[in-house]
Amino acid sequence: MKLVHTVAELREEVAIAKSQGLSIGLVPTMGALHEGHASLIKAANQENDFVVVSVFVNPTQFGPNEDLDAYPRTLEADCKLAEKMGANVVFAPSPAEMYPSVDATWVEVTGDVTKVLCGRTRPIHFRGVTTVVTKLFNLAQPDRAYFGQKDAQQVEVLKRMVKDLFFNLQLRIMPIVREADGLAKSSRNTYLSAEEHTAALILSRSLQAAKEQYATGERDAAKICAAVTASIKSEPMANIDYVEIYGLPELTPVTNPMVGSNLLAVAVKFGTTRLIDNVVLEDK
Ligand code: PAJ
Repeated sequence: MKLVHTVAELREEVAIAKSQGLSIGLVPTMGALHEGHASLIKAANQENDFVVVSVFVNPTQFGPNEDLDAYPRTLEADCKLAEKMGANVVFAPSPAEMYPSVDATWVEVTGDVTKVLCGRTRPIHFRGVTTVVTKLFNLAQPDRAYFGQKDAQQVEVLKRMVKDLFFNLQLRIMPIVREADGLAKSSRNTYLSAEEHTAALILSRSLQAAKEQYATGERDAAKICAAVTASIKSEPMANIDYVEIYGLPELTPVTNPMVGSNLLAVAVKFGTTRLIDNVVLEDK
């Protein structure tokens, strides 16, 4: 496996792979890789001849008071895990390499899909994500790109972008990987104290209960949200940002009664750490 830091080096690796007729899988990440990321790299390795993993803490998707500086950076361990899961290249550029000019060119998806949920409290976040992912798509020219359902809104935003900009690639969405205790794996889990980690288990428990409520016939979104909110509030360390349900795809307003597929998404702070989690509510 090769570690490269520059656009020129990555382009060269991609050109060689293309000249050999290899299919390319891309796994964009911000590093501090865990089993969630590993599952994406593994899938990319199974479905493609050549796998590029990017490790880049993308400054443009962080707001002014967010954790850009504190975000964990563990490139050496990341390379080891990426190699073990079958990556051919790890691309770890500097911010200046990815954003060479002072005046940026932005790729922005508009509409509710970027305005609701995380878009409300993180207004520039998705513009940063779509801009950096476009750059990565142009550089790696993947046949398939891998993302996790953990970031369900990101998935809906990227689906829209790929459709609207006619990107010639397939988005592959992988299920949420959880700790044995139910907590969704996240690079930000390293911020949690042992006490906060235990408190945060309320998220997966509440979402699981909502799934059961739905399975037994509840179709009133307000009732499901109220039950999840009450359950999360029973944990004194939890500070709710949102508990909401939107229609899929594209996060449309939920209907009453709920029909089709709907996303129940939560964002909750434990101390200074903001965690997200979700389940899809749909008939099997
Ligand atoms: P990051 O948070 O590092 O996540 C990289 C990819 O791993 C995302 O597609 C995310 O959904 C997926 N992932 C994270 N935790 C997961 C879990 N527990 N189970 C399954 N998949 C999981 O998302 C980003 O980085 C950035 O926004 C990025 C797309 C790289 C753009 O900068």
